[in-house]
Amino acid sequence: MFLPYFRHSIRPGVVNDLCRRNIVTLAGIKNVVDGYWKAIAEDYVFVNIHGCRAEEIVKDQDLSKKKCLITGANSGIGLEMTRCMTSRGCEVLMACRNPYEATTVVKNVCENPNLLRFYETNLASLSSVKASSDEILKKEKNIDVVFLNAAVFGLPWTLTEDGFETTFQINYLSQYYLLMNIEKILAPDARVVFVSSESHRNINWDAHSTLMPSKELLSIPEDKYTSIRAYNVSKLCGLLSMHYLAYRWMHSQKQVFCAHPGSFVKTRLCRNWWVYEALYTFMKPFSKSISQAASTPLYCAFSPELNGVSGIYFKDCKRCTESDIASDLHLSFRVNDLTHDMLRDRVGAFDDVARASSALYRQQLKEAVEDTVMSNYSGTINS
Ligand SMILES: NC(=O)c1ccc[n+]([C@@H]2O[C@H](COP(=O)([O-])OP(=O)(O)OC[C@H]3O[C@@H](n4cnc5c(N)ncnc54)[C@H](OP(=O)(O)O)[C@@H]3O)[C@@H](O)[C@H]2O)c1
Repeated sequence: MFLPYFRHSIRPGVVNDLCRRNIVTLAGIKNVVDGYWKAIAEDYVFVNIHGCRAEEIVKDQDLSKKKCLITGANSGIGLEMTRCMTSRGCEVLMACRNPYEATTVVKNVCENPNLLRFYETNLASLSSVKASSDEILKKEKNIDVVFLNAAVFGLPWTLTEDGFETTFQINYLSQYYLLMNIEKILAPDARVVFVSSESHRNINWDAHSTLMPSKELLSIPEDKYTSIRAYNVSKLCGLLSMHYLAYRWMHSQKQVFCAHPGSFVKTRLCRNWWVYEALYTFMKPFSKSISQAASTPLYCAFSPELNGVSGIYFKDCKRCTESDIASDLHLSFRVNDLTHDMLRDRVGAFDDVARASSALYRQQLKEAVEDTVMSNYSGTINS
């Protein structure tokens, strides 16, 4: 349509040249689009950008004497971690809600299905968590590694049967409760890994909320709810709990870490809203594969390089600084108190050890504050 116009204004040789170049450009665009669709369909691995695969983290390790408990073992990153661990001889206790997937699908994916045991756990119900942890306590003796991996994202606002906002309860509260219940059978040098997310950085509470966090800040009411905020809060709570537990286990060999697997990893996490599904599908060629995403949590759980350290956030198998409020130790104790209050309201007493260590911390804090006040006071008198 525009060709005659061009013919009048541009020399004929140039028109031919332009047409040729456009055809070349079109072919180029087609190439890019073809490559993009191919990358969506297959698992392209950009090792230099996104780091190594999960197998490489455990390839030289003998995990035959290890026992690991993992939530959400039947899908995505959890499934890949389960596959890698069993391939190295690790026994895996799967705390999942879906018996068919845990018994059939996972066993088909894993080389050595005899190493798998299934504990039915619906994280949307504290009584289900209690029943499954009682069964774990009855049947298992020593757990070396715990992955708190299960999560939901993009749900509309709903309350669980326990009266908590669903994302908060599934992603954080119930998994923390599970951990508290099985704490007594953790190996002396056990490692706990919260599968976290960089999106925790999007939560910025004001000074008042940071000093006095309320239940509504964690279990968000309907009028303040967005699914992204609920997800981010749940991940922030995981980081705060890591700091609390690192403090509580300071005099033991137990270790606790948070691991960000990667962003926009195409798993079933985005299944709850078509917009997220489309976004994650679009981003697939540019993000980590599921195997690459599983590498950082596995690194935190098994790397000998991490012996002797605790309370650290990792991304791309490297130490990473979390957001300011996620590293606030006082806030971590307050959120922990709140978590325990919420749980105690619903399930009664369960946390004697935690309460004792919280009281000890408060005592130490009080003494430290008194020391500071006294030294400032004597400084003022001397001057
Ligand atoms: N994918 C990403 O881009 C990304 C980014 C940052 C962080 N992460 C984190 O990585 C972890 C793994 O996520 P993923 O990407 O692998 O997602 P996924 O494939 O959707 O896996 C989530 C797992 O959680 C389980 N789960 C959900 N609700 C449950 C409930 N009520 N009771 C018991 N289990 C429940 C799911 O079980 P069902 O199959 O039965 O629902 C599934 O096994 C999550 O903590 C997530 O926040 C992921």
